[in-house]
Amino acid sequence: MKRQGSLVCVGTGMQLAGQITILAKSYIESADVVFTLVPEAYTERWLEKLNGDVRSLQGYYAKAGEIKNRRDSYAQMVDAILIEVKNGKDVVCAFYGHPGVFACVSHLAIEQAKEEGYSAQMLPGVSAEACLWADLGIDPGTGGHQSFEASQFMFYQHTPDPCAHLLLWQIGIAGEHTLTQFSTSSEKLQVLVEQLQQWYPAEHQVVLYEAASLPTQSPRIERINLADLPEAALSGITTLLIPPSKPLSHNDEILSKLGISATDLG
Ligand SMILES: C[S@@+](CC[C@H](N)C(=O)[O-])C[C@H]1O[C@@H](n2cnc3c(N)ncnc32)[C@H](O)[C@@H]1O
Repeated sequence: MKRQGSLVCVGTGMQLAGQITILAKSYIESADVVFTLVPEAYTERWLEKLNGDVRSLQGYYAKAGEIKNRRDSYAQMVDAILIEVKNGKDVVCAFYGHPGVFACVSHLAIEQAKEEGYSAQMLPGVSAEACLWADLGIDPGTGGHQSFEASQFMFYQHTPDPCAHLLLWQIGIAGEHTLTQFSTSSEKLQVLVEQLQQWYPAEHQVVLYEAASLPTQSPRIERINLADLPEAALSGITTLLIPPSKPLSHNDEILSKLGISATDLG
């Protein structure tokens, strides 16, 4: 039997009030406690209107002038959430975007709550990536796509497919390994550009993308040459899209096994 106390992690979408699911909103309205991790004040205020006990997790990040590892911040956030679950409360955590996409606190909290015998689940939300395909008019199914966290892409042996779209998340902290800084440098971005030049020419057009967080705003869609990335203005909400640099090429071996001729594919 499950213990009393539960956890539901929901996404608020990228844009104020309009991208949350009906189900997520109803969980927020009926929760005993709502923890929030949203990047701007409007969404925070809106959530406060939905529930009388809304607590922001932002305070666990480093304060101005403080050096604090983000892993410590995340662990403290998880502890704060679990305390209320263990107090027998029905807890909802509202994260911007999709609660489990490039977001570890939701996964850690759900895992821990389940291990300790509590009911815990995640509801999906509209992520930055979902907005990107919509705003740019791209169907990622056309040639496929890959997504990486930018620093992880740099630190490990990932191989992008230049026939597919490539998304690099957290480009604004690319190459930052200490987990204490919230920005990158043109030197680190230059290393990334040189790495990417194994697959993409220097003049390949890439897109700096920022979904709008308010209905009155427009998304940022800025096309630049890959070589100009080190001087580009990047923030904590910038995602880098690298479109394909090569057309799809047929897999003749598989086509022949299937008895299909390349011309049959149109
Ligand atoms: C910690 S992840 C959170 C992602 C979020 N959970 C989601 O579902 O989109 C932060 C990264 O998401 C992307 N991101 C966040 N806000 C964005 C926005 N408004 N537009 C484009 N990308 C965004 C950026 O790559 C940013 O560095």
